[in-house]
Amino acid sequence: MKAAAAILVALAAGASAQSVPAFRYGTPSANYPGVKGTNRNGPTNPSAPQLNTPINQTSDSRLATLNSIDDWCTFGPQVPGTIIGNVEGETVAYCTKPRNNARVIPDGTVTGAHFVKTPLYVQLMALGDFTKIGLVAGDEGGELDPHGATNMGNPVGGNVTSNVSGEDVFYEEWMNYVSYNQLCFRICIAGSEQAPTALECEHELDVMGCNFVMPGNYADNVFETCDGDAAYPPGLYPEANGQTSTFKQFFTGEYVAGGTTYSYTNGAADQVTPTGAYSTPSTSNCRTTATISNGIKSIVPSSSSSVASSSSASASSASSTGRASNSGSASGSNSGSASGSASTGNSGSGSSGSSSGASSLVGSAVGIAASVVAVMAGAYLL
Ligand SMILES: *[C@@H]1O[C@H](CO)[C@@H](O)[C@H](O)[C@H]1NC(C)=O
Ligand SMILES: *[C@@H]1O[C@H](CO)[C@@H](O)[C@H](O)[C@H]1NC(C)=O
Ligand SMILES: *[C@@H]1O[C@H](CO)[C@@H](O)[C@H](O)[C@H]1NC(C)=O
Repeated sequence: MKAAAAILVALAAGASAQSVPAFRYGTPSANYPGVKGTNRNGPTNPSAPQLNTPINQTSDSRLATLNSIDDWCTFGPQVPGTIIGNVEGETVAYCTKPRNNARVIPDGTVTGAHFVKTPLYVQLMALGDFTKIGLVAGDEGGELDPHGATNMGNPVGGNVTSNVSGEDVFYEEWMNYVSYNQLCFRICIAGSEQAPTALECEHELDVMGCNFVMPGNYADNVFETCDGDAAYPPGLYPEANGQTSTFKQFFTGEYVAGGTTYSYTNGAADQVTPTGAYSTPSTSNCRTTATISNGIKSIVPSSSSSVASSSSASASSASSTGRASNSGSASGSNSGSASGSASTGNSGSGSSGSSSGASSLVGSAVGIAASVVAVMAGAYLL
């Protein structure tokens, strides 16, 4: 494995959304390799996405759909009140409407949402009280993706669809960050030579949080649907000389293959952690909606117990410790990212302090190790 070259120029810090050229990604195609799901759909999922399925708040369905501002899903804890980073492999789908046999997000959970369709991906950014879908108060979150320790998905058997192309399609590459008060979800719907789906939906930067990995408008109390430019792939920074540098999250670990234990290093301990995404892509054709609701009164929110909230305090302190030791400035970078991108409409979420959507320490470690194993296997990374 090539240890990631972590040459990072902090030019990103000062770059404003307006002053950088948009990402040039060639001519994306929905038929590019790695766009459409080709293998089996998860065993706990219905065979196809479907609206108006029976409500079952203990469902294990792991089929998430991102169709519109009021028809989307996220992954969340299977057992309400568990730190999501510890249980990423068993998370289940929670949807705004009864669909996919999945659990339903109770009305009143989501306080703001932004649905953006770009030529390369569809992206949902939402704010709210996600303790109502089982997150622990204060939990800075977990990162879900189609790889995981066994490359069977995180959650195992997790799959995603969207109908933004005009029909329901299963897609192969996606990433979903979920914390107690913020979530983001990107599904890559087209690819090109410059922007293969594994790059545009690159999911290893999980301590960096939503604002960094999926830049966009995270303003609360707004429900908005927009078209948008595609963002630069996560961690990619164009440089003045025409080259690009790539930020790789620093971490080390071990894995066992054929009975031998190998250690690995990703990134570099002394690298500069960027303070924000290279740019926030511009949007157009935005339409707002007053709110979103399924009108179902009988759905009881999952509540995290007092035990859970006391564990959240330790989890979040563990998380900040972990981040500090991971890269020195990672937690600084999250707050930097919130303030640095205030011009892009993040002020709403930035004001709540720790709305980074970053993983808890344990979650990061697990997710990262999983990712690295997959990289080792040459399974998907470029
Ligand atoms: C379901 O997810 C697995 C694991 O990521 C993936 O290999 C498979 O292609 C997906 N199936 C579909 C139909 O999208
Ligand atoms: C709800 O989902 C769980 C987990 O899949 C299943 O065991 C249970 O039978 C389902 N309940 C109903 C009423 O379908
Ligand atoms: C996508 O799904 C929504 C339901 O959320 C439906 O209203 C819409 O017509 C569907 N679009 C297409 C193109 O099938």
